Order: sequence, then C-alpha cells, then structure tokens
Amino acid sequence: MLLSMAVKGARDGGAEIDPIVLRDYQISPCLEIYGCKKDGECAIKDDFQQIRDRLLSADGIMIATPVFFYTVSAHLKILMDRCQSLWVKKYWIGNDVDERQQIVRKAFLIAAGATKGKKLFDGMLLSMKYFLDVLDARLENRLLCRGLDFEGDALRFPEYMDAAYRMGMEFSRSAGRIETGEPRGDG
Ligand SMILES: Cc1cc2nc3c(=O)[nH]c(=O)nc-3n(C[C@H](O)[C@H](O)[C@H](O)COP(=O)(O)O)c2cc1C
Repeated sequence: MLLSMAVKGARDGGAEIDPIVLRDYQISPCLEIYGCKKDGECAIKDDFQQIRDRLLSADGIMIATPVFFYTVSAHLKILMDRCQSLWVKKYWIGNDVDERQQIVRKAFLIAAGATKGKKLFDGMLLSMKYFLDVLDARLENRLLCRGLDFEGDALRFPEYMDAAYRMGMEFSRSAGRIETGEPRGDG
C-alpha cells in the first residue's frame, strides 16, 4: 500500500515507472561459484539478467520491503546476492578503486516492520548501502515504518501514507540527477 502511494506520487510528478514484483520472477540464490570472475556476467541464467538490466537502465530506483528478521525479505536478499556479479565487475575486473564513485541513480526505500525498536532498520540499511553501491546508486531518502504488521495496517497511519506519496513526488524530481558519492567503505 505504501509503495502504491509512492508510485502514485511519482507518476503524478511525471515519472515513468517500470514496476518489478520480485516474487513474480524465478531467481536462484547466488551459489558462490564465481562464474562472474571472468567478465562480471553471472553464470546462472534465469530471470536475474533481465531484472539487473532494468535496474541499470533506470534513472532512479525505489525499493519496498518488509523487515524479516531485521533485514530485507528473502526475495530481495536473493537479488542483492546475485548482484555480487556487479560487485565483481566493478571492483575486481574494473579495479574501480577511485576514492569517489560516480552516483548515476538515486534510490528510495520503503520498509515496514511490526515492532518499534530503535535498531529495527539498522541491518537492512547497511545491506542496502552496499547493494546500492553496485548499482551506482545512493540512498536519497527512506520511509521506515514501525508498528505495521497486518494487511491494511498502513491505512491506520495517514502520516505514513502521506509521506509515501511525498516521497514518490520527490523521486520523480530527483531521478536522473548525477553526482559523485562517498568513497567505498567498510561500513
Ligand atoms: C518471516 C518474517 C519475519 C519477520 N521479522 C520481523 C522482524 O525481525 N522485526 C519486525 O518488527 N517484524 C518482523 N516481521 C513482521 C513484518 O515485518 C510485518 O508484518 C510487516 O508489516 C510486513 O509487511 P508487508 O505486509 O508489507 O509484507 C516478520 C514477519 C515475517 C513473516
């Protein structure tokens, strides 16, 4: 629901959206066989390649995920791990050790968790930072929603729904702006 609101905001702001629902695709987990060592191409051939290409051709990326055991959903984690092939391409093959990486796309995150702890999103945010780096993206804004557990819960929080719409608008305005980012770090 929050993502739908954000997409509405983005479309109202003039963005063209290519929606990807990960559960609709067949993507194997990374098998750590490093077939990508040669040229950065993942050796497992499935729906990953088309998702990767769609992400890399986007001006901006918006990701929505529930909190599952203090990190992202398994579907998203599988995609992240398969993007290790991009990491290999960028840092092993490309030997891209420049202090400042070029950021070509901005990313936005919507996450929902049931509990209210201060650290609820810490694990996810760290994974997200390094995942986005391989997509030459940086987290521009995030909507982190606590206290959501059951279907429709988001509707009880008009402030979350409003924030999602506004974030979509912001997404439409900022997608495509290029800048340089932080140096690669060890988090
Ligand atoms: C497998 C699983 C793991 C979960 N782990 C957490 C957790 O670590 N912390 C938390 O606050 N909520 C956790 N939850 C609750 C979900 O984050 C919560 O229900 C969320 O609102 C689901 O969002 P969705 O309906 O958009 O998928 C978990 C739920 C499931 C099914």
